[in-house]
Amino acid sequence: MNELSLFVLELAENSAEAGALLVKAEVRSAPESVEITVTDDGEGMTAEQSRDAVNTGYTTKSGRRGRGLPLIKAAAEKTGGGLSLSSRAGKGTKVRVRFIKNEYCPPMGDINSVIRILAICHSNMDFRFEIEQSGKRMTFDTRVIKERIAPAKISSGGVSSWIREYLNEQTEFIFGGAANEITC
Ligand SMILES: Nc1ncnc2c1ncn2[C@@H]1O[C@H](COP(=O)(O)OP(=O)(O)OP(=O)(O)O)[C@@H](O)[C@H]1O
Ligand SMILES: [Mg+2]
Repeated sequence: MNELSLFVLELAENSAEAGALLVKAEVRSAPESVEITVTDDGEGMTAEQSRDAVNTGYTTKSGRRGRGLPLIKAAAEKTGGGLSLSSRAGKGTKVRVRFIKNEYCPPMGDINSVIRILAICHSNMDFRFEIEQSGKRMTFDTRVIKERIAPAKISSGGVSSWIREYLNEQTEFIFGGAANEITC
């Protein structure tokens, strides 16, 4: 796991696994740093769980290794940045990761693919993606897309098939390759 886009995926997967119905992922690239913030309305954590969550080996999921958050934290700290987590049981979770742009900062990777994976693998979850670089902002919101697509299409083909179809047509247009231009 050595791309920022994969960190976003890992954080959004945690949100989906926490039963989130709505996940907001923000990637902000400034001249000196890149900040990733993932906010969800999932089951949240108690104060004690929030402290434990970033420790290697802590997991509440069967058969898992509890490595996602510690790996992301270590990668951010290697650049001189860090990870902060705030959560409330029953309310949701916000994870903020800051990377300083230097030789230790991982490349951006493929954000388009992350959006596709989330849309296809978690078709019952809505998400909003915001990417900002040099004041230029791009957004992708599954709720907006659903509003624009006839409900008939959703019931006939299933959510994941229509969203895949939509993404195949639109992501290149929406992002125009610019998302991949965010580099460290
Ligand atoms: N968004 C979230 N909402 C609620 N709990 C979370 C969230 N993110 C992490 N957690 C809690 O923190 C624990 C550790 O997360 P982490 O990603 O490090 O490991 P994991 O998801 O359990 O396993 P894996 O190694 O496959 O990522 C989770 O098991 C879960 O209890
Ligand atoms: Mg995880």
